[in-house]
Amino acid sequence: MTTTGGMLATVAVALAALLPLASSQEAMMCPTWEENPWCPCYNNDYGIFMECPMVSLDMVSKVLGLVTNPIHSLSIYDLDPNVTTLPSEVFSQSAGVSQLQISHSNLQSLADGSFEGLEGSLEKLTIKHCKLNSIPQAPIFQLGRLTNLDFENNNITEIPSFAFSKLTLVSLNLKDNRINLVSDYAFDGLKESLEVINFNGNNLSQLPLSSLRKLTSLKNLQVAFNRIPDVHLDEHNGLPTLQYLDMSSNRIRKIKSSSLSGLPELVSLSLYMNSINSVARDAFSANPLLETLFFSHNNIRHLARETFKYTPKIKTIDLGNNNMQSILGGLFMLLRA
Ligand SMILES: *[C@@H]1O[C@H](CO)[C@@H](O)[C@H](O)[C@H]1NC(C)=O
Ligand SMILES: *[C@@H]1O[C@H](CO)[C@@H](O)[C@H](O)[C@H]1NC(C)=O
Ligand SMILES: *[C@@H]1O[C@H](CO)[C@@H](O)[C@H](O)[C@H]1NC(C)=O
Repeated sequence: MTTTGGMLATVAVALAALLPLASSQEAMMCPTWEENPWCPCYNNDYGIFMECPMVSLDMVSKVLGLVTNPIHSLSIYDLDPNVTTLPSEVFSQSAGVSQLQISHSNLQSLADGSFEGLEGSLEKLTIKHCKLNSIPQAPIFQLGRLTNLDFENNNITEIPSFAFSKLTLVSLNLKDNRINLVSDYAFDGLKESLEVINFNGNNLSQLPLSSLRKLTSLKNLQVAFNRIPDVHLDEHNGLPTLQYLDMSSNRIRKIKSSSLSGLPELVSLSLYMNSINSVARDAFSANPLLETLFFSHNNIRHLARETFKYTPKIKTIDLGNNNMQSILGGLFMLLRA
């Protein structure tokens, strides 16, 4: 009995010693609830996380002034619908933010100095489910450490020349906009850095190859749900570093001998929901690393026996929902071998 009591007492002393320490560390990082009842804030091993839902930008600015350490992730959403321009100086009191997300607002544009205060810290910027109608070049050019840029679900129609030229982006997400024009010089400046581009759900009538071909690190290109009628990625117009290509839900009808011959590193190809009715027997002869192929929901009636003889690493072929009249027995025997 006495032993147990002694142990409990020891534990209680240890806890008493730890608790004030933990809460004082927290106080050093997040403002107290009394100081800041507007933006819930917590910190863990990654740093400070703060969310400001339905809070005015003036208030966001004040709260940021109370945080003396850089914030890891700041999320601002459900802004007053009357706010259509992000004003300058919202972040000028901030000690820094690594990842900023603004979502579900009526923002159409950003003032030139709107990221003042974040120049040396911002690595990931997301402005999604808003109404941006162009790439906000002047404000993002200040962000020298930015590697990830996400403008998913806005109202952008055009990527102009040198749109990101002062940045070193690795990943660019432009999903679900209305883009139908990409300048030949759109990605100039990102030549060596850009690895991932998402153009899904736009209004492209062709692959913007002149701009894409300058990217020497491009690995992953997603252009599903556009209105592209064909693929011409031959040796002279190829993307020699590309590993993942998604052109599902476009208007492609034929995969010819040379359609994919400029993709020597290709690992995964998605072409579901097109109108493909013919696949050349040597269509994959220049894609020796191909592992997965998604061809479902097309009009393929026939695949030649030797179609996959050039792709020894193939693991998955999805041909569901086609019009297959003959899958030559030899095709899948070849695959198993
Ligand atoms: C938005 O603007 C309208 C008209 O200018 C005004 O009546 C309304 O109160 C404003 N809404 C907010 C939340 O400030
Ligand atoms: C998108 O921009 C067009 C002008 O380019 C405008 O007419 C339309 O209302 C905008 N859509 C939204 C949802 O803001
Ligand atoms: C797509 O682009 C065409 C012009 O190429 C235009 O007529 C059409 O309105 C655009 N669609 C959308 C949803 O923006």
